[in-house]
Amino acid sequence: MFFKIKQQIISSKSTLYLWIFTNFVVVKPIGIRFLNKTIFITIMKYLSNDKLVIVGAGGMIGSNMVQSALMLGLTPNICLYDIFEPGVHGVYDEMAQCAFPGANLCYTTDPEKAFTGAKYIISSGGAPRKEGMTREDLLKGNCKIAAEFGDNIKKYCPNVEHVVVIFNPADVTALTTLIHSGLKPNQLTSLAALDSTRLQQALAEEFGVQQDKVTGAHTYGGHGEQMAVFASQVKVDGKPLAEMNLSETRWEEIKHHTVQGGSNIIKLRGRSSFQSPAYNAVKMIEAAMGGEKFTLPAGCYVCNDKLGFKNVMMAMPTTIDKTGVHFTEPTGTKEEMDGLQKSYEHLCKMRDEIVELGIVPSVDKWNEMNPNI
Ligand SMILES: NC(=O)c1ccc[n+]([C@@H]2O[C@H](COP(=O)([O-])OP(=O)(O)OC[C@H]3O[C@@H](n4cnc5c(N)ncnc54)[C@H](O)[C@@H]3O)[C@@H](O)[C@H]2O)c1
Repeated sequence: MFFKIKQQIISSKSTLYLWIFTNFVVVKPIGIRFLNKTIFITIMKYLSNDKLVIVGAGGMIGSNMVQSALMLGLTPNICLYDIFEPGVHGVYDEMAQCAFPGANLCYTTDPEKAFTGAKYIISSGGAPRKEGMTREDLLKGNCKIAAEFGDNIKKYCPNVEHVVVIFNPADVTALTTLIHSGLKPNQLTSLAALDSTRLQQALAEEFGVQQDKVTGAHTYGGHGEQMAVFASQVKVDGKPLAEMNLSETRWEEIKHHTVQGGSNIIKLRGRSSFQSPAYNAVKMIEAAMGGEKFTLPAGCYVCNDKLGFKNVMMAMPTTIDKTGVHFTEPTGTKEEMDGLQKSYEHLCKMRDEIVELGIVPSVDKWNEMNPNI
């Protein structure tokens, strides 16, 4: 029936309708008067037609990202890539069986097919941690994967616009990817936002307000045990946190809860979180595609003499938009800035470990591999 209507409209040579059908997909009903009848069609423009590659698409975060990207209407052209064929094949089948209008999906285990022509990439393609593990325990294996991922970007899609790295330890896998890919620093970000949304959730529950009434609840530095949790910019329903009579003990508990937020999900669900990382990473790419700006802290490359942070990827006050990621200087109390310094030093240690392992060259030689850094 629907196909018939479409045919009728197109054959009527109505350029308007032809334009609608070539540019929009069907999702929301609107009424159009046509041949004295009201025809209900549902339209929504995809934000872009560019190729989006989801790496690790056979896994939990990856499969949720494919679905989120289609539901948010990012692009119809999505390639699902994974090294595990049955997994990625199964996700592809499920997505096809959702029957998203206009979707043009493919799946592959071949990096050349996946990456060629890619304009946007999100990667969760790496091992997740299990109960009792820290994100740092994944360093060696996942950074080797990141090096290969970066090499594939350089080889098959040097014109990619933006890449989001999720797999842990995300600051270090993202740094490895950046060095190997040859991309500019503003083209690559890592997912760090969940630490901030966990802090926001805890404060909203503490004061019994809706979650989005808590603003400025941010963590900076590493996305690991050493993250720096900032309180001084937080407002609860417009009122500074400092005026909310939160005891020191309670604040320490909330901080601890924030740092342990990921482990808590593993305890509750028996596996690493996947819905919140999938949603937030897709929102980061949506921003890079020119959609709504992403203003939660993202991990980005920092090499800034004034700040004293050099040659690391870390969470900063950031905005992602069509021009990539941009950071500003974090502001906080002396104690918060000291926490950030500690977090930075921890990131430097992990960076030095991957240099020692030979996964990336020594800092003075990065420029030979990536002239943009
Ligand atoms: N940054 C964050 O906030 C955040 C939050 C949660 C999880 N994570 C991390 O995301 C990663 C993925 O988690 P998950 O729950 O989806 O795990 P998962 O095991 O469900 O999925 C990972 C997928 O990656 C694939 N994969 C492994 N190596 C690959 C490679 N070289 N190339 C392509 N694909 C490859 C696997 O086959 C698997 O399908 C983990 O490292 C996890 O720690 C990060």
